[in-house]
Amino acid sequence: MHRVSSLLSALLCVLLSGLSRGYFPEERWSPESPLLAPRVVIALVCRNSAHSLPLFLGTIERLNYPKDRIALWVATDHNIDNTTAILRDWLIKVQNYYHYVEWRPQEEPRGFEDEAGPKHWTDLRYEHVMKLRQAALDTAREIWADYFMVVDCDNLLTNQDVLWKLMRENKTIVAPMLESRAAYSNFWCGMTSQGYYKRTPAYMPMRKQERRGCFAVPMVHSTYLVDLRKEASRQLAFYPPHPEYNWALDDVIIFAYSARMADVQMYVCNKETYGYFPVPVRSHSTMQDEEESFLHTQLEVMVKNPPLEPSSHLSVPPKQPNKMGFDEVFMINLVRRTDRRDRMLRTLYEQEISCKVVAAVDGKALNTTDIESMGIKMLPGYKDPYHGRPLTKGELGCFLSHYNIWKEIADRGLQTSLVIEDDLRFEVFFKRLLPQC
Ligand SMILES: *[C@@H]1O[C@H](CO)[C@@H](O)[C@H](O)[C@H]1NC(C)=O
Ligand SMILES: *[C@@H]1O[C@H](CO)[C@@H](O)[C@H](O)[C@H]1NC(C)=O
Ligand SMILES: *[C@@H]1O[C@H](CO)[C@@H](O)[C@H](O)[C@H]1NC(C)=O
Repeated sequence: MHRVSSLLSALLCVLLSGLSRGYFPEERWSPESPLLAPRVVIALVCRNSAHSLPLFLGTIERLNYPKDRIALWVATDHNIDNTTAILRDWLIKVQNYYHYVEWRPQEEPRGFEDEAGPKHWTDLRYEHVMKLRQAALDTAREIWADYFMVVDCDNLLTNQDVLWKLMRENKTIVAPMLESRAAYSNFWCGMTSQGYYKRTPAYMPMRKQERRGCFAVPMVHSTYLVDLRKEASRQLAFYPPHPEYNWALDDVIIFAYSARMADVQMYVCNKETYGYFPVPVRSHSTMQDEEESFLHTQLEVMVKNPPLEPSSHLSVPPKQPNKMGFDEVFMINLVRRTDRRDRMLRTLYEQEISCKVVAAVDGKALNTTDIESMGIKMLPGYKDPYHGRPLTKGELGCFLSHYNIWKEIADRGLQTSLVIEDDLRFEVFFKRLLPQC
């Protein structure tokens, strides 16, 4: 009985609230909901990228953009490494988050007939890549995507908002300027009459971000966004090349030419740091060169950013650090600089180098009594040759830190040791070049 009456009163409430809505229609007014995010196709054409994929796919996963508004178009072929398995594994795990996934693997053959090695770009390979990119673009148009995004499989987009930021520029083709260890980037400021790269004075101020903004340039490549809602984008093509095209058979030049013929201006933006990529290795280089160059890119990211984590959907085998044949590797770190310690330990781990952390002598904490009690006296009239001033406490601390290590080396009878400080920035191929020093 009780239950029935409460049911009835509940029903009455519903009726009454319905009635009151009817009587006071203004109470139903709710603001318009926000728009859904534009539909994006991200096209990935990966080859021999096993070394970069875990980090690369991690950055794709972490893009701050609704995955159900992204379709992934992924192709891979002619691999001699584990690229196909890694991509397949990843796509199986993430496919449900994305709107749509197209997967085009090709296991055989493992190389092109006319190539000298896995890093060699031949005509056959250029043509193959152009056809794949065209197929991706066709898919994007068929499924009425708003945007088409190309990202090379070793480009690390560290700025998670990069998609939104590029969209806000409202350009038909726009690239985020990528950082590298050298002057190299993913845009050109000048182009020769044959369609090749031309050095211009405008380049470096943009590359170094002395001038910031979004700039009209004749070429962007590697990572860029195409707005397919712009009418002129319909004439853009990767393949076949424009009928009047007679420059080199090179996918990036052919695409830039198609943009030019469609009256589409390419833009590059350098307002912020958006990402990093390796300087391409020369065509006769090895897979190992490429791996080490990518590793260095990863280390460069860490100079100004937190370390990049690999995709959470992939298992990455643990590294096997060692002392590189030294009796000891010492790393000097001020105990209060945990940030530097963490970065250096991670940087060394990624290079598979193990070390002994030594607490630095904190020069700032030394007072005159301490210094005197250690029997340290300044040479009368000593002046630093560069700055023309006596030694600072920081320099004294630094010296004492090294001195303590020399004592340890002598006490333990170590033959060869490596001593590094915690603010080191490594050269590319550091590990390989070190034994030659
Ligand atoms: C290749 O990648 C797959 C998927 O990530 C992994 O399970 C397998 O162990 C890898 N094989 C080799 C030889 O690294
Ligand atoms: C973006 O560009 C189009 C022309 O391509 C223009 O019609 C539109 O108003 C622009 N949108 C914004 C928000 O500026
Ligand atoms: C100098 O520092 C030591 C600790 O390092 C302290 O015991 C001593 O009192 C200090 N002396 C002076 C003069 O501040």
